[in-house]
Amino acid sequence: METENINIGLLGLGTVGTEVAYQLIHNNNIINNQKSKVQINLSKVLVNDINKKRPDFLPTDKITDNPNDILNDNNINLIVELIGGDQIALDMINQAVDKKVNIVTANKLIMSKYGHELLTRAKNNGILLLYEASVGAGIPIIGPLYHSLTANHINRINAIINGTTNYILSNMSTGTQTFENALKQAQNLGYAESDPTSDIEGIDAAYKLSILASIVLNNRITEEDVYREGITKLSAVDFKYAKDLGYTIKLLAIGELDPENVSLRVHPCLISNDHLLAKVEGVYNAIEIQGNPIGNIIFHGEGAGPKSTSSAILGDIISIANNISNKGANSPVNITDTTIRYIDYIHTSSSYYMRMSVQDKPGVLAEISSILGKYNISIASVLQTTHNQPDNIAELVMITHPAVVNNLNTAISQIEKSNQIKSVDSLVRIEDLN
Ligand code: NDP
Ligand code: HSE
Repeated sequence: METENINIGLLGLGTVGTEVAYQLIHNNNIINNQKSKVQINLSKVLVNDINKKRPDFLPTDKITDNPNDILNDNNINLIVELIGGDQIALDMINQAVDKKVNIVTANKLIMSKYGHELLTRAKNNGILLLYEASVGAGIPIIGPLYHSLTANHINRINAIINGTTNYILSNMSTGTQTFENALKQAQNLGYAESDPTSDIEGIDAAYKLSILASIVLNNRITEEDVYREGITKLSAVDFKYAKDLGYTIKLLAIGELDPENVSLRVHPCLISNDHLLAKVEGVYNAIEIQGNPIGNIIFHGEGAGPKSTSSAILGDIISIANNISNKGANSPVNITDTTIRYIDYIHTSSSYYMRMSVQDKPGVLAEISSILGKYNISIASVLQTTHNQPDNIAELVMITHPAVVNNLNTAISQIEKSNQIKSVDSLVRIEDLN
């Protein structure tokens, strides 16, 4: 039997691309002989700056800065896109789809914004577009949602799906690093996006949540359908209070997935120290799926970094290689456009953690309670301290009973207007995950 050849055009040789190239060259025997019936070759690699120093393991004649050397090479039958970002990568993926070349990508931005159209066109063209690394890096989640979990009615996802922010929050909560230092470290370790705003403002997690929700709901869902807050407003003192109260602060991506009441949100929350997600530290991610009949299942592993990410990309490459050798694309994708109904974030309800600086004098607490009461918000507990505060100022930390977000926002804007209140410094949702 004639050996089939998979010739890869790798777009991008940065943090992830370099590891994938390394594995394709150094682990070639494992990839070819044990896992796939076809010969997988790394043909060409596209970079932006041809003069940059590249790793010695990669022959220089494989490197180009001309996209046409890959996109117009008819011997290349698999494109692996690891450039990241929006338009340039999208143009290249579109060209590959038009040419009916199979694609692997780790690009969550593109899969969130344009995944619906791209997957539909790929399917119509009889090719595969696989994107396992786009959510949770090496943690298998997209494959399981399409395959092993497909018989389930999945009603909720609770996830930590950004390695950079979980790394920062873990360090801030143990007091080992400041926000700025932890972010720098995450960048040095190859966890952060080239523009880390995407990580720290929750945009990356919103892309990922929309990708997961679109698979579960079999619908077109983008990051625009996700309510989003980042982690930049949290202060070191919030971690201390959260700890005293028995909570851990995490950036969660939450999908409530009943098609009649869909709510997708990414925001920091206080979660009980007893919950498994509270124990997910550093660059680790965890995705909890609640479904029927499966019950609750958690996927856990390193959610960023070159090693973990390359595992998912190589898995996708081998799947495509096997698919080619089995003669015929077998896309699991079958997107529908059924109606789903979103609940607006402001109409959801939750307990809240609030921290404010107030005048240290009688009547202030009564005024705050009265404003909260007007909006049907009751207080579950209060801590007050004057320690480390300027003269006549006290710090007040409150936990509320569940309240409607819209009511809470209105109450807070009234509280902020009172001249007894210096500032509302922190407002974080408490997520009851149990
Ligand atoms: P990097 O920024 O490290 O690498 C980007 C690569 O793309 C570089 O080699 C760069 O070239 C090349 N490139 C940039 N612009 C162009 C262009 N116009 N034409 C040709 N090549 C270009 O990114 P990462 O490796 O970290 O990420 C790649 C993708 O993987 C992104 O979509 C990211 O979101 C995703 N991802 C990343 C993870 C991680 O942990 N880092 C985990 C999961 C997914 P040059 O080398 O010349 O600068
Ligand atoms: N910047 C991303 C993160 C990379 O920190 O999770 C993995 O998608």
